[in-house]
Amino acid sequence: MADNTTADKKKLFIKTYGCQMNVYDSERMAEAMGGAGYETTDTPDDADMILLNTCHIREKAAEKVYSELGRFKGLKADNPDLKIGVAGCVAQAEGKEIMRRQPLVDLVVGPQAYHRLPEMEAKTQQGVKALDTDFPEEDKFEKLKGRSKAKRAPTAFLTVQEGCDKFCAFCVVPYTRGAEVSRPVDRVLTEARDLVERGVREITLLGQNVNAYHGAHNSGDMTLAGLIWELNKVDGLERIRFTTSHPNDMMDDLIEAHGSCDKLMPYLHLPVQSGSNKILKRMNRNHDRESYIKLIERIRAARPDILLSGDFIVGFPEETEQDFQDTMDLIEEVKYGQAFSFKYSTRPGTPAAERPLVDDAEASERLYRLQALIAQQQRAIQDSMVGRNVNVLFEKPGRLEGQMVGKSEYLHAVHVADANAKIGEIKRVRIVESERNSLGGVLVSD
Ligand code: 5AD
Ligand code: SF4
Repeated sequence: MADNTTADKKKLFIKTYGCQMNVYDSERMAEAMGGAGYETTDTPDDADMILLNTCHIREKAAEKVYSELGRFKGLKADNPDLKIGVAGCVAQAEGKEIMRRQPLVDLVVGPQAYHRLPEMEAKTQQGVKALDTDFPEEDKFEKLKGRSKAKRAPTAFLTVQEGCDKFCAFCVVPYTRGAEVSRPVDRVLTEARDLVERGVREITLLGQNVNAYHGAHNSGDMTLAGLIWELNKVDGLERIRFTTSHPNDMMDDLIEAHGSCDKLMPYLHLPVQSGSNKILKRMNRNHDRESYIKLIERIRAARPDILLSGDFIVGFPEETEQDFQDTMDLIEEVKYGQAFSFKYSTRPGTPAAERPLVDDAEASERLYRLQALIAQQQRAIQDSMVGRNVNVLFEKPGRLEGQMVGKSEYLHAVHVADANAKIGEIKRVRIVESERNSLGGVLVSD
């Protein structure tokens, strides 16, 4: 019988680019389209609908979308009923242009309009192209709410905040995702409880500027720390994380939570972008290196073992070798367990786009040096785990028979032979080896 229902369903292929928020959005779109008779497929070949969930943050993002779309030409020729859609930040930034330049596209939907996807799809079935890049008032996630009770993996993302009001001079997010909006506390808690019922043990709260969260609650707006304390009470939820944060929104209650909230994991992604005060000013970051370092000291005072992660941009317009050295010094001082680093690249429409570029070879060379330093720090921190006991949340079987793989509190991947653990279980593990991108451990018998 199940086969019959499956056979009746149309197939949806979603390709997701970019950040975790897009991963989360793709899941929600898949659930919404489930209500419109679609099930997901892993390949575009047999799809009735293809959706590209795009990202605008990396270089030549739009060009990559056009070349990807071009590849679907043959599929559309074989199956004229195939619908092709573009979602995400590229859709938001250049929706009309996409429709004009690539006639294969039936549908363009911006990140704030995903809840309208089923009606847009219905329109395309009538042969009408559909475009929606509005920023509507309603809560799209409330409208997107899936009814599925299907079992989930033990870790999940949950978007609690979207958009950004910070306007860093290099960044498109305030334009593509719009102004900062927080979801109400009760809706987040309901979704979290639903995830836990479906097998989730660890939730990562997502937001472009997540620590600016200020969700509506019957006792007035609640901060991210307040929300975390509410989540801490949810039975069956074992771990809480959040990303990405801005240094200026790292409030006292959130720092304190890192010291006292038992489910909040000792890991913090806190981008600084540059260690030069001149560049930070030009980036419109509204903080300086001293305030960032002081903040790190306060966070470490609350939670000494916290693993810090960051984002860096090298070769920002007018960055001199000395400015770059300031960034390297800051990295030396902070010591990161993990970091993402990028060569600056121009985003049309942002303030920095008007400014003179650093020589490209010079910027590449700086990126190389910075990544070497980060790799060394990452390695040192990973190696220092050997001999320590950590708690591992097991996520999947490993490559070897009997082996299981999971994550420590610090987000290190850990594999354990004879783990004798089920997916979703947390066990105490002693780290015995540090490999390239993971740690090896043995169960600690209690
Ligand atoms: N050039 C290079 N890196 C960028 N980022 C954002 N915009 C740009 C850009 N124009 C990086 C920042 C941000 C991360 C998500 O991407 O480091 O924190
Ligand atoms: Fe972009 Fe982050 Fe700056 Fe907001 S805080 S503008 S999302 S880099």
